[in-house]
Amino acid sequence: MDVHISLPPRGARTTAIHRQLASAIVDGVLAPGARLPATRELAAELGVARTTVSAAYDRLLAEGLVEARVGAGTFVADVRAAAAGGATTTDRAEARSIRQGISGSHSPADPCTAAALHPIPLIAELAADDDGLAPDPAPDRIRWDFAGGSPDPTLFPHADWRRLIAHHLRATSPYPGGYGDPTGLLELRVAIARHVRLSRAVAAEPDDVHVTLGAQHGLGLIARALLRPGDTVAVEEPGYPPVRAIFASLGARIEHVPVDAEGLRVDLLPPRARLVYATPSHQFPLGMPMTTPRRLALLAWAERHGAAVVEDDYDSEFRYGTRPLDSLHSLDRAGRVIHLATFSKSLAPGLRLGFLVAPPSLRAALRFLQRTERMSADPVPQAALADLLDTGVFAARARRSRRIYAERHRLLTAELGERMPDALRVIPSHAGLHLTAYLDAAFPRTAPRLAELAAAAGIRVTALDPFYARAPTANGLLLGFGRIPAADIPAGVAALARVTGSAR
Ligand SMILES: Cc1ncc(COP(=O)(O)O)c(C=O)c1O
Repeated sequence: MDVHISLPPRGARTTAIHRQLASAIVDGVLAPGARLPATRELAAELGVARTTVSAAYDRLLAEGLVEARVGAGTFVADVRAAAAGGATTTDRAEARSIRQGISGSHSPADPCTAAALHPIPLIAELAADDDGLAPDPAPDRIRWDFAGGSPDPTLFPHADWRRLIAHHLRATSPYPGGYGDPTGLLELRVAIARHVRLSRAVAAEPDDVHVTLGAQHGLGLIARALLRPGDTVAVEEPGYPPVRAIFASLGARIEHVPVDAEGLRVDLLPPRARLVYATPSHQFPLGMPMTTPRRLALLAWAERHGAAVVEDDYDSEFRYGTRPLDSLHSLDRAGRVIHLATFSKSLAPGLRLGFLVAPPSLRAALRFLQRTERMSADPVPQAALADLLDTGVFAARARRSRRIYAERHRLLTAELGERMPDALRVIPSHAGLHLTAYLDAAFPRTAPRLAELAAAAGIRVTALDPFYARAPTANGLLLGFGRIPAADIPAGVAALARVTGSAR
């Protein structure tokens, strides 16, 4: 077989193998009757697990693109003869969709069609490749927890929340009937509009605010309102994998646009992008803010190209020592920016509460989507959150959390600089719940290997690799400080330094 298969650095490998072989078969590069290499052989050649190759072959088999002959191997099926001899439009659409990576309908050649339900190929492929981020190690094995992106659960305003939930449960007895406003409880939208004006200089009227079940839910709504299958979306590289997954699941074509020290490389945006997703306050995962000139360039670009911009402001309540830059939303004069936010970091991810601020041009579409999906938050926590914001309890708690996280941020930066100056270069950042550091070029191990060794020593750190969609990835680590008390940071960094062999 003479087809070169290129693989992403991590994840999506079954999809990559399947898609490249499927294209080669549909395009006739692999001739009917040609024998595919044995799974073991191809796995060894590509340096992947045999099951990865077998899963790709199984999909080709299910699609009727190859045939398995017992004892002899796997052979390319004569798909073109089938097409010439009366292939249905569905067959051709399927073949085309395989080539384009867009979902099509089920192939009649699929032997399972009659016997089982199975998802459209696009979703089946994404699901098969969804290895997510690193699985959580058993909590009792973690001694120093530098998990990324998690807030400190002890900072949740438990007593206030309990009191407010009890109050609203009593006040709304019997439980509120009906489905409520699909865009969120009016009191909460009023409170959020005031909150974002004060905390982020985002000018919003209550009608511009849509309460969501977290930022990820909000992003799905935005994507469904704005994108057709096959539309191009530009996302930051590196970036947050679940965000890419949302766009991919809708059949969007994703362009991974690099970031530099100023944020997203606006000069590299593909002109056809209909939507640009960015994290200007605190680039995820690298941590630097997008500079003001870059923000202005992005807005000018969006206006020139008629594109939407999603500003994911997932953790900017926690800002250390610097004045926040103006949000993209506040700089936008053309109504192209959607401001996306969450209470996952400032309160708790399990609450599933967030919001977006959308321009009036999207109001009716978002309201329609929210009404039809009926995924509104429970009215009681919505009312409790409105009170938390209105009474100043939220702001006071955020100030307290910011002081605590600021100390951890300072300490972690200092300890890494002091104990591992030759191994790690910390990327300066002034916000959020994590730091990112590059491993020195001369460092003998890769970040994933180092994360493994650290895990064996009871230290949780995350390699940057999964945040990159394409090679080359940066050799670096993400170190969160939401879950580790300041008092444990020096010992945690010392333990990491011992693992890296760079202890001082
Ligand atoms: C960059 C980024 N965007 C969005 C989210 C999702 O937030 P939510 O929990 O509100 O869905 C996260 C969560 O960690 C994140 O890191």
